[in-house]
Amino acid sequence: MKRMPMIAGNWKMFKTGPEAVKTATQLAAACKDITDVQIMIAPAFVSLPLVAAAVKGTPVCLGAQNLHFEKQGAFTGEISADMLTAAGAEYVIIGHSERRQYFFETDDMVCKKIRAAVTAGLKPVMCIGETETQRDREKTFLTLDKQVSDGLQGFGPEEIKDLVLAYEPVWAIGTGKSADTGQVEEVHQYLRSLLEKRFSSDLAQSIRIVYGGSVKPENINELMRITDVDGALVGGASLDADTFTKIIRFDTTL
Ligand code: PGA
Repeated sequence: MKRMPMIAGNWKMFKTGPEAVKTATQLAAACKDITDVQIMIAPAFVSLPLVAAAVKGTPVCLGAQNLHFEKQGAFTGEISADMLTAAGAEYVIIGHSERRQYFFETDDMVCKKIRAAVTAGLKPVMCIGETETQRDREKTFLTLDKQVSDGLQGFGPEEIKDLVLAYEPVWAIGTGKSADTGQVEEVHQYLRSLLEKRFSSDLAQSIRIVYGGSVKPENINELMRITDVDGALVGGASLDADTFTKIIRFDTTL
């Protein structure tokens, strides 16, 4: 089965509304002819409606960086799935390692957030990945297995058909040190077989598994040549429209 690659930009806590609109507008213009890559950008919550208007009718779609799992309520400072869809988001990043590390998100919370997203019709981009210590102690697969099993606890294959799984080794995020192609290939193959065992072969074949962690124009081609890599989740290198466009226009023949 052919999976359309996805190249997603996680803008984290960068860019004011006007700055986000400027970059999104440049990006949309630079990518206006692209039909074979799903392009997504995830700006800060407050920029979502502004950026939604800026990319309307272009190949660029919108994602959020987080959400709360309750539908509504007294949760000061939080944001719901319905608020995100109303603001123009189609995707939502869930369980990013920065959320897990600095905001103590657990696999159980990730699971609830995925449930909230799916219920509201938002497509979850579920982030998983091992720390450097876990890799050094040869706990990489055990860690990923637990994150997938607990994070997708109780879901049937039909419910998560639009899920995107993002493998982001924590030690490769924002460090400039991307995982090497052998490491990425091994993990992506493992994840696909895990999805097959846990859900179904159809689901495993249709779900996109993207890689994240120091992706840049210099390493995207070799990453995209790996059979089980269906795209990339890009942090730092997505902030500049020209650089991000180079990643979106990857060429596996180079
Ligand atoms: P990076 O971030 O590309 O800056 O390493 C990736 C991410 O956090 O998704």
